Amino acid sequence: MSQTWMITGANRGIGLALTMELLRRGDHVIAAARDPWGGALAELAGVHVGELTPLELDVTSDESVAAAKRALAGRPLDVLVNNAGLYGPRDRQSAFEMDFDAWREVFEVNVYAPLRVAQAFLPNIEAGSGRKIATISSRMGSLGGNPSGAIAYRSSKTAVNMVMVAFGNAVRASEIAVLLFHPGWVQTDMGGGGADIPATESAAGLIETIDASGMAETNSFRTWKGETIPW
Ligand SMILES: NC(=O)c1ccc[n+]([C@@H]2O[C@H](COP(=O)([O-])OP(=O)(O)OC[C@H]3O[C@@H](n4cnc5c(N)ncnc54)[C@H](OP(=O)(O)O)[C@@H]3O)[C@@H](O)[C@H]2O)c1
Repeated sequence: MSQTWMITGANRGIGLALTMELLRRGDHVIAAARDPWGGALAELAGVHVGELTPLELDVTSDESVAAAKRALAGRPLDVLVNNAGLYGPRDRQSAFEMDFDAWREVFEVNVYAPLRVAQAFLPNIEAGSGRKIATISSRMGSLGGNPSGAIAYRSSKTAVNMVMVAFGNAVRASEIAVLLFHPGWVQTDMGGGGADIPATESAAGLIETIDASGMAETNSFRTWKGETIPW
């Protein structure tokens, strides 16, 4: 049966690939982006009339999230995917040099926003039957992965893991599964052209793994293929 998914950062990269794969298989997608009416989303909306709902959403803005919440009031959602993310500066986030303003910005997008979005759309998830909230984290946030460098980005993903585990425990009684994923090293603007896998492969794996997940998997941290990652 067709489901309704909401994807943040749906206009490019992994978010766009998730949107395209879900539309291909007949699901409805609420494609949330800062500019949901331009570029690839505009083309998709022209082809998938009635199946794709563009939603303007800056995940770092209380006002933008409140407006999006009003726009979706009363509409059941089966799956929410917190995908929007920011890597931060390529050079100044090391042990010896840090752009602290950029670090704060990375936390705004990668840590605070997933909770802000999950809180805002929790009533929609409670009204749906899928009852899943997935957040695209990263293996780079794993403390068990011998981390070095990229401190702003890594720490944001470690933090969002904790945020969403705490959120998952809070909504456990409502039987909403909260899932954390590493999407692979993916060929996107963030991952770069030399990354391991195309966004289509990551998206297909994520969707398959999310489909197969339920309360038994709540608060898990896994790859797009469903393999467990150490915290
Ligand atoms: N690519 C990889 O290898 C890799 C590996 C591990 C984890 N991840 C994670 O996977 C997720 C998607 O990454 P990606 O590779 O697809 O990155 P990407 O190509 O750089 O795309 C990032 C997306 O996030 C959106 N975004 C950023 N700030 C936003 C904001 N304030 N409000 C709304 N949207 C915002 C961007 O929108 P705009 O177009 O408006 O900027 C864009 O749609 C991220 O959470 C990332 O950390 C990626």
